[in-house]
Amino acid sequence: MIMDIDWENLGFKFMPARSNIRFHYADGKWDDGTLTGSYDITVSVAANAFHYGQAIFEGGKAFRCKDGKVRIFRPEENGRRLNRSASHLLMPEFPVDKFVEAVKTVVRDNADFVPPYGTGGALYIRPVMFGTTPQIGVGASLEYELIIMVVPVGAYYKGGIKPVDAMISRDYDRAAPHGTGHIKAAGNYAASLISSKQAKERGCAVALFLDPATHTFIDEFGTSNFLAITKDGKYVTSESDSILASITNNSLMTLAADLGMPVERRKIRASELADFAEVAACGTAVVLTPVGRIFNGDEVIDYHFTEIGPQLKKLYDEMTGVQVGERPDRHGWLTEI
Ligand code: PLP
Ligand code: COI
Repeated sequence: MIMDIDWENLGFKFMPARSNIRFHYADGKWDDGTLTGSYDITVSVAANAFHYGQAIFEGGKAFRCKDGKVRIFRPEENGRRLNRSASHLLMPEFPVDKFVEAVKTVVRDNADFVPPYGTGGALYIRPVMFGTTPQIGVGASLEYELIIMVVPVGAYYKGGIKPVDAMISRDYDRAAPHGTGHIKAAGNYAASLISSKQAKERGCAVALFLDPATHTFIDEFGTSNFLAITKDGKYVTSESDSILASITNNSLMTLAADLGMPVERRKIRASELADFAEVAACGTAVVLTPVGRIFNGDEVIDYHFTEIGPQLKKLYDEMTGVQVGERPDRHGWLTEI
């Protein structure tokens, strides 16, 4: 264990760990990868990623479990989604089994950066892939780098799982209809920054986006999927082709069903927001963060919670319990390093 890290107060901030693992793609194939202690890279200023945006990333977590072992949550799902993102941006796929091995290798090498059991922290796993070929004409890069780095993290939002306020983004979309909203393209996050700035100016932690074609339905937050609990106890989450397929949301839907909660994935009208009992954001970084109020133009929808609501609490406890080995891993989601 690294002694001089304040494990209880990590937040979601970059700090270097021991190593990252890097793979290079050239001549139509990926190399075998190298672990390195450096956080610097040398690439041409003309590299595709800087100008034409061939850049995608992933996010996963490893946990220190109750039995002291380190386990990774569903890394193969990150590998599959990385490939969906890659293929949409004409980037090369990376074999999923090789990806899982690479994640294991880098987590193992950084095992003493995994926050201790009981602190609520995790080792965040951040793979990033980008085009490195120097080019001035628009086109797909010939060479790529895939780097998997790890960062010890705590809660994404200050205050842990206390409710946060959200603001519906009315001036800007994060994605276009039939665009890149469903993949983890770096550019989606650049596009969401202006809405996130507006949200913060209204005192909200996060922006909530509507479907870009009609601005009628709830898409997702800038960093997470949207979910709600109806007054009759159903789990409802958005269906849209411009949102990311969240691994956390997929897991929560499974756990909700296990707990006997009906699950509905469907289009959700913005006008339904006031009817929900509980609302939350879910994702690897935010885990399951309850939403206290939603600002929608002049309207404020208040769910009247100062703590996480009862149904979300059940899901949160189940999810985090599985991740740290306090509750049974019925679906085989944990990979030992
Ligand atoms: N939606 C967006 C836009 C995200 O950035 C993320 C984070 O990865 C998610 C949803 C949640 O996905 P996951 O649960 O796989 O982390
Ligand atoms: C994640 O939850 O892993 C994300 O990628 C969200 C965010 C920090 C961009």
